[in-house]
Amino acid sequence: MESVNLEVLQRFIRLPGILLILGIAACSLTGIQTPIAKPALTVQPAQAPTLRSLAQSRRFYIGTTVNVNALRDEAAYSATLAREFNMVTPEVSMKFSETEPQRGIFTFAQADYIVAFAQAHQMQVRGHNLVWYTDLPAWLTNGKFTRAELITMLRDHIITEVKRYRGQVNIWDVVNEAMGDGTLRDSIWLRGIGPEYIDMAFQWAREANPQARLFYNDYGGEGLGRKSDAIYALVKGMLQRGVPLDGVGLQMHISLNSYPNQKDVLANMQRLAALGLEVQITEMDVKTQDDARPMQAKLAAQAQLYGEMLQTCLSVTACTAFVMWGFTDAHSWIPAFTGRPDYPLIFDALYRPKPAYFALVQALSQSTRVGVK
Ligand code: G3I
Repeated sequence: MESVNLEVLQRFIRLPGILLILGIAACSLTGIQTPIAKPALTVQPAQAPTLRSLAQSRRFYIGTTVNVNALRDEAAYSATLAREFNMVTPEVSMKFSETEPQRGIFTFAQADYIVAFAQAHQMQVRGHNLVWYTDLPAWLTNGKFTRAELITMLRDHIITEVKRYRGQVNIWDVVNEAMGDGTLRDSIWLRGIGPEYIDMAFQWAREANPQARLFYNDYGGEGLGRKSDAIYALVKGMLQRGVPLDGVGLQMHISLNSYPNQKDVLANMQRLAALGLEVQITEMDVKTQDDARPMQAKLAAQAQLYGEMLQTCLSVTACTAFVMWGFTDAHSWIPAFTGRPDYPLIFDALYRPKPAYFALVQALSQSTRVGVK
């Protein structure tokens, strides 16, 4: 288990230091989890560092996706979010099916709620996502459209959404997951418009917000290999054609027994940076369900992976943000998607920090990075 940073831990358990140390010693000696009694006296610990304060002092962004219902309904969710992160990505609220459920009829209330929260807490927002092969509204997937009609509809969607958030959302995942295992993934856009839909989408996003940083975002190409090489070739070609592309998002959806080699992630980040691109880790989570080890061992391995990927990003100047796909096990997409329980994130379902949280604190604390403004 990661060496526990007592100062940080104190924030989560309002106990005077000496009691806390005795408590932890008792646990380690007896190996049992001594229930921590409500303190007779509360000693306010010195303001312990948070992920956000550590990131901010290095001009770095540490973020998470946001479940708008939890943000609205759960005080612990919004409090933890504001305390620990300086970047947010709406989990679904800015997607095509959520924002244009009927052709030409836009619904931004959920996205507005997240953007307002971010503005109130001085957080950056990653707009996600403008063009995807899935989560599309029925009017689009069930319709029969000419190439010209699809171009008009996609342009109108992108221009409307990006213009709405000018000055509030300055990073966009313009195209999400367009790559299959080495060739472009089949989609309504590829079939109906052709591969040029990708270049068009970035040009329309640039037209709608000249200040925004425009990202291509994908999974499975974080390290080196066939898909990573295909994404590298895609973005290199876009740059050669003068397409307004600013960065690549490496999603980093991994598991305890399936993850990219840290050296390969570093090499991939460096080669993308050499093209003049920004890189961000955009959706990290670490599935635990396919590993038979005892939970404590799994949590330690999970912490190692979170810490390593953050260290790797911090070691590359062009890697400007580390964003996770959620922060509490109470709200992860994985259990619903797999139909099995899972514990992929850095806080447990009761918002208690897991070893992975302390691994991120350690990686940030040890980083000598001084980011660019
Ligand atoms: O809000 C409705 C609710 O009213 C309804 O009762 C319920 C049951 O149908 O569905 C709810 O909407 C769901 C939505 O998540 C909000 O929970 C959608 O069905 C469901 O498809 C949607 O799944 C999201 C998925 O993207 C598709 O948009 C996941 O939460 C989200 O974590 C996942 O995120 C993606 C990234 O965008 C791209 N990278 C991969 C990542 C994981 O798949």
